[in-house]
Amino acid sequence: MASVSDLYAPLRDVELQIPLYSVGIAVLAVIILVAAPSTNANGGIKAPYIGSKNRLFTRFQFLNRGWELAYAGHVQFKNQIYKVIGGDILVLPTSFVEELHNLPDEKISSIKANVKNFQGRLAGASILLEGNLHTRILQTKVTPQLASFIPRIEDELKLALKNVIGSCADGPVELTGYATVLAHVSRISARVFVGDSLCRNQKWIETSLKYVNNALGTMFVLRCFPDTMKPALTWVIPSSWRTSAAIRDAIKVIGTEVRTRREEQAKNPKAEKPFDFLQFMMDNASEFDGQPHKLAHRQLILSLGSIHVTSVSLCQIWFDIVARPEYVPELREELEMVQKECGGWNKEALGRLRKLDSFMREALSLSPPSILGFKRIVQQPVTLSDGTILPKDADIMVVVAPISKDVATLPNQVPFDGFRHYRTWKEAGGKLNNSFATTSLDNLHFGHGRYACPGRFLASDAIKMILGEWMLNYDMEFVGDKSRPVSTPWHEVMFPDLKKKVRFTKRTS
Ligand code: HEM
Repeated sequence: MASVSDLYAPLRDVELQIPLYSVGIAVLAVIILVAAPSTNANGGIKAPYIGSKNRLFTRFQFLNRGWELAYAGHVQFKNQIYKVIGGDILVLPTSFVEELHNLPDEKISSIKANVKNFQGRLAGASILLEGNLHTRILQTKVTPQLASFIPRIEDELKLALKNVIGSCADGPVELTGYATVLAHVSRISARVFVGDSLCRNQKWIETSLKYVNNALGTMFVLRCFPDTMKPALTWVIPSSWRTSAAIRDAIKVIGTEVRTRREEQAKNPKAEKPFDFLQFMMDNASEFDGQPHKLAHRQLILSLGSIHVTSVSLCQIWFDIVARPEYVPELREELEMVQKECGGWNKEALGRLRKLDSFMREALSLSPPSILGFKRIVQQPVTLSDGTILPKDADIMVVVAPISKDVATLPNQVPFDGFRHYRTWKEAGGKLNNSFATTSLDNLHFGHGRYACPGRFLASDAIKMILGEWMLNYDMEFVGDKSRPVSTPWHEVMFPDLKKKVRFTKRTS
């Protein structure tokens, strides 16, 4: 079995690669494109700019000042539309989400925006435009059957605890926090997605992590350049080669699994089928989507949501717990009571962890994975309630962090109140739906409306179970500086401190 540091290795690569690429490629870009004269649909809208109007310059500037710029626009132009990245992105006030969130894909497309943001084919994501099989399966098979997934998640989690953290019988163990999160999330995710037969397959775990890290690296580099240059750049960016290699590896591993399952199921049609996402896709795909290489590719792309975004979110929430030990006794008390009354981990128990849920929502709203959300590409002109006409192909987003507090300060200056949402829920007699996974205008981290994240209920349950097991089994503290580790904004995303170590001590009381 690979150690935590083995699983973490691909991430270290990316950490080093992004800045090196940026510098080298920036020089190349400045030589080739002194001024990049390109236009887009956003150009047709009159709106103030945040940062320079020079698109090439601000694309690079956005790499390490993205959060600052987007947030500055939010504070300065509170109720107005403004442009970031030289006009690449039109940032709408959150108030417009209400009128846009249920428009159909033919009017404003979420998937096109997410694929474009992700650099489409060039980072291996264009398969998402071929159909929404994965989303349908998450919505209609996984979420409704989460209760049946919980024992499987628990089983995998217990194994991860044993293998990654251990019993601490010989004293405390010190582990890199993010790597520990990644090791737990990647195993649980593999169990849900590819089931018992493949979930501990080292090649598959490595392939999904390799894809996540290198696709993200490729995406950040390509976002800085005009579309015409991007295909050529993929020839010279090592993370792009590794992204393609990960897709090829996934096709080998998952493609073989699909063929083997089909042969066995044809021989023995009455045998019980595996209970996992891959099998649900196999059973519900069209002939085209059901080809082994298509299923493998789609499965791999899902690693971005199920591994990357979940790990980053969990790590941020966990760091807030470790940095605020005063919350731990109450969270543990709730966990112990609910476990006792519900007989362990199950759907009812997870639904009753309202204090933990509140803490998770508060933590993510202050340290969200991205500052920009509700990404949409306009497909047909849309007239907003203030009369603004969004033209076809306009690229719109909203600032999602930390809108709930609406303060003119930087995100990390907002006072943390872990039980804020618990109190509001209690005051409403337990009738308010303000849970971590419930989207609303003040909780946009999973999107909102018709195209909100279909994996959010699974993510919420898995995060609660991992944090719950850690708090029930271990005392945890940061190694060295005990204060909340500082996150690093990069482009629109925010990474937790990837190197911070946590000391786990077996709980005795
Ligand atoms: C805390 C963890 C997660 C966060 C913060 C998150 C966030 C998001 C956001 C913001 C979107 C875009 C929604 C929009 O366009 O309005 C999204 C879409 C999506 N997420 Fe998640 N996600 C998480 C976990 C997951 C998990 C665990 C899965 C898979 C099981 C998943 C699968 C997806 C898929 C498939 C889409 C695209 C939906 C579509 O338009 O077809 N996500 N997620």
